[in-house]
Amino acid sequence: MNDSQKLLIIGLGKMGASLLKGLISEKSLNLGISVVEPNANNINTDFISNNIDHYLSIDEINNFDFDIVIFAIKPQIVKEVCEEILSVSKNKTFSLISILAGTKIKTFERFFNNYPIIRTMPNLAASEGSSITALYGNSFVNNNLKILTEEIFSKIGDHFWIKNENDMDIITAISGSGPAYFFYLTECLSTIAIEMGLNVKDIDKFTKMVAKGSSDLMLSSDKSVSELRENVTSKAGTTEAAFDVLDDSEKTFYNLLRSAIKNAIKRSKELSD
Ligand SMILES: NC(=O)c1ccc[n+]([C@@H]2O[C@H](COP(=O)([O-])OP(=O)(O)OC[C@H]3O[C@@H](n4cnc5c(N)ncnc54)[C@H](OP(=O)(O)O)[C@@H]3O)[C@@H](O)[C@H]2O)c1
Repeated sequence: MNDSQKLLIIGLGKMGASLLKGLISEKSLNLGISVVEPNANNINTDFISNNIDHYLSIDEINNFDFDIVIFAIKPQIVKEVCEEILSVSKNKTFSLISILAGTKIKTFERFFNNYPIIRTMPNLAASEGSSITALYGNSFVNNNLKILTEEIFSKIGDHFWIKNENDMDIITAISGSGPAYFFYLTECLSTIAIEMGLNVKDIDKFTKMVAKGSSDLMLSSDKSVSELRENVTSKAGTTEAAFDVLDDSEKTFYNLLRSAIKNAIKRSKELSD
């Protein structure tokens, strides 16, 4: 890999900061990193001690010579940010990596015609190095850029390439939003336990440990998730009684979750249009 690659991250919010944290945790990538972030509170001392150049706005960049630009801003401002980058980059081509939900490659191609562009969908577990990130590139993405992109996203978890960009809407609804579903389930368990009269000092720690234990088991076991579920569900036991309601003949829980995912996919498509 070329040691002199220069990387610019635009937007250092929850996702941009997680990515940066992963990139500076190991020096193996040897990238020169700069960031654009208007909110000075998002710049912590770790970043400063790692020689990261910080710009408060794109128009502060005098000499634009970046090889890779990662877009980590909200999708709502993508067009104005593309225009600003176009104006400061003065036709210097770079590789563009986007983590924006619901923003198609063709949106970027309108501004950056013939540029290598990679669309990705990580999730919030990036801050723990446990994201699962989907990657999709246009026809200008070469093998070296693919390898570098894989190295970047390996710093925040696991990754995989997809062949059809339309799959991003499903991936966004399942894994982009996914942590929120698990948080919600944990939140519901805490609230219900309290409603049922349980008096535990730290109820959130109690239900979070249930979530952690289940997740550890799913990842370490050779068994499928349905086998694991069956292992907890002994005949005529308490879990079976719960599943009599959750997995009734109307499949109420499954159908509700399915409708929720379909609505998230619909929203992802609306944002893309
Ligand atoms: N959060 C998730 O779980 C998740 C998962 C997958 C993908 N994504 C995608 O990741 C992207 C970022 O999400 P996020 O949750 O990290 O949002 P966020 O926390 O709001 O971060 C966006 C950052 O961009 C900054 N910003 C605003 N205008 C800017 C500009 N002109 N130039 C440079 N930076 C600018 C914002 O600063 P201010 O706060 O001062 O406005 C903020 O710090 C979104 O497109 C989202 O779709 C998010």
